[in-house]
Amino acid sequence: MRITFKLIVSLIVVVVFVALVSAWFNVRQERIKLYDEVRAQSALLAESFKESIRHNLETKNRAGLQKLADKFQNQKKLEGVAVYDSAGSLISGSSSLPPELLARVPEINALIAGGDGSDRPYALGSKKIYLYPLALTFNENEKARIVLFTDISYIDYDLFKIWKRTLIRLLAQMILISLVTLFVIRWNLVDPVIQLADWMKKLRVGEADGHMPQLKGDIFAPLAREATTLASNLRAARRAAQNEARLRQNGESLWTPERLKEHIKSKMDGRPLFVVSNREPYMHIKEGKDIRTIVPAGGLVTALDPIMKAAGGTWVAHGSGEADFEVTDADNRIKVPPEEPAYNLRRVPLTKEEEDGYYYGFSNEGIWPLCHIAHVRPTFRKEDWQYYYDVNKKFAETVLEEIADVKEPCVLIQDYHFTLLPSMIKAVRPDARVAVFWHIPWPNPETFGICPWQKELVLGLLGADLIGFHTQFFCNNFLDTVDRTMESRINWEHFSVQKEGHITMVKPFPISVDFQQPDKEVKALGRKPDPKTVIKELGLRAEYIGVGVDRIDYTKGILERVKAVERFLEKHPEYQGKFTLMQLGAPSRTHIPQYHRFLAELHAEVDRINWRFKAKDWKAIVFLEKHHDHKTITKFYKIADTCLVTSLHDGMNLVAKEFVAARDDNSGVLILSRFAGASREMKDALIVNPYDIEQMADAIYYSLTMPKEEITERMTRMRQDLHENNIYKWAANLTGELMKLRMDEFKLPVA
Ligand code: F6P
Repeated sequence: MRITFKLIVSLIVVVVFVALVSAWFNVRQERIKLYDEVRAQSALLAESFKESIRHNLETKNRAGLQKLADKFQNQKKLEGVAVYDSAGSLISGSSSLPPELLARVPEINALIAGGDGSDRPYALGSKKIYLYPLALTFNENEKARIVLFTDISYIDYDLFKIWKRTLIRLLAQMILISLVTLFVIRWNLVDPVIQLADWMKKLRVGEADGHMPQLKGDIFAPLAREATTLASNLRAARRAAQNEARLRQNGESLWTPERLKEHIKSKMDGRPLFVVSNREPYMHIKEGKDIRTIVPAGGLVTALDPIMKAAGGTWVAHGSGEADFEVTDADNRIKVPPEEPAYNLRRVPLTKEEEDGYYYGFSNEGIWPLCHIAHVRPTFRKEDWQYYYDVNKKFAETVLEEIADVKEPCVLIQDYHFTLLPSMIKAVRPDARVAVFWHIPWPNPETFGICPWQKELVLGLLGADLIGFHTQFFCNNFLDTVDRTMESRINWEHFSVQKEGHITMVKPFPISVDFQQPDKEVKALGRKPDPKTVIKELGLRAEYIGVGVDRIDYTKGILERVKAVERFLEKHPEYQGKFTLMQLGAPSRTHIPQYHRFLAELHAEVDRINWRFKAKDWKAIVFLEKHHDHKTITKFYKIADTCLVTSLHDGMNLVAKEFVAARDDNSGVLILSRFAGASREMKDALIVNPYDIEQMADAIYYSLTMPKEEITERMTRMRQDLHENNIYKWAANLTGELMKLRMDEFKLPVA
């Protein structure tokens, strides 16, 4: 209140000062103007009867003079006229003029002495009289003076009116200013501060969630953002403390970000962690003139970002966003996540040719279909291989730069884009502990054997100290492949390969998700998502919702999924108009013809099915083709009755785990392909063969008619398992295993 008062008083003082000064100037100008008018009128009048007076003086016609003086009395403001001789004695004057005025000898004398131009006002009782003198010569050398008496009391009255008007206006302005100031301060400062303080208090006593209510005005928007981040940190810290306390109480050993941080600190002796992947965790794109940060779709980022947030360190990745290098420093580094920087992202620039050959070509037209049994022929081109080699070299140089000052650095390489990287790094830094995690399936040796560069790929990988796959089955396939490809010593008991003195351990590490993440996303949404509202927002209606979330990729079984929806609606027409599949699809690798064709086929199939079952306000399939953020995806997980993960072949598939993590109400049914790595762990899902459309249609039906208790039991078991086997445990196992290895004399295996 004091600040409001001070502000109002200061504003009023300034306004009053300005208004008074300007009024003073106005009044002054007005006075000058009015006096000029009186003077001009008096001069005009005096001149007009000057000759008649002269004539009467010369003819000594006193009666004529008196008549003349009387003729000009009481005209408008003119009180009268008088004629004086050169000594100041009255010769003749208007009868209306009071004698005391006519006899004001000193003033008249002063006028006469002053000559023309010595006009001035004099006070006469309550009146103010203006005396205007005009010199007159008659009979050649005799002098006389005509004096005009004008009542100018009205001038003071006019000026008073100006002052009065100014003061009234001033008063109105002061009231207006006070009201506007009060309103502005109240709306923009007082109310938001009260709201903020109220929310903070509730937060402190645990009555509010981490989401700040919409503050009035926008002055506090930056503060609100910071406060929201602080609040979520506070909540996370509280949750972690509660968790820790609970774990201590139960004697459990759940992996949390805090525990992972401690684990990495102690295992790695304070050294930073280095992660390398093709896909970057944060991408900067242009939206008009603005630059926006997005989180790319895909399991790798979902899994590794929480680890890096917890552990810190440096993530080296391809800078593929169009605005990526506009925000990095001179060394292509940037701290991420943007809202709460926790680790460094080092971006590697690639030319268009490099990206074409290494990423689209060798990695995604070659290795990707080679490792996924989805009946798409791999294409291997010599030029692509050359680019693949060169880009691996480029990344190796970048990583070597990053680890230059770190003794025995720990490097985690991700995926099939970098099979050559482990050997390239080890050749220069044998002290580095290098692990590779292979996020996709590893096929059997016969399948892998069709790759013309299979030996180089395997040798490159064997440069690592540790190779991780999602499942034991993929580990077996890898060791079989090594066995068939080259001379080496394979230890089937310990799952390791010895090649020219270097030992590589091969182990399964089933990747997972941050179990708490959906909870955070829902908090960020502000309220619990409601199925009816979400569907209504799309202009539709539905009673049952199935959800599919994928990168648009031919390995994900999306075509088979929509066909299964069609078959389900055919078999159970009572669900027509009631069941909708919400398919969220992030466009991916769109420059590859196979992906183009796949997308076109998917659109055609969705259109065909929707047309077949066409009904007012309802669709069998809603295909939301765009990049969705985690918040939106979580919203769809939350409202779904069933989630369909129908990959034809998949390393793990984290959508299955994200869906389970999101269902804190222990409801919802997961339909999961037996060809996704996740099916090895998530036994409580409805496991299906995605090629068997009939079976999938039945699974959809069962997911919608399953008894509630069974749904709860299945989901509860999956959630318990996921809670324990979360992404932090995965990271702890992988880094723990890597740090445990004995670093023997290293010799680079030669092809
Ligand atoms: O899981 C395999 C993988 O290639 C990951 O490396 C990546 O996160 C995801 O698929 C998405 O693919 P891309 O990076 O080619 O968009």
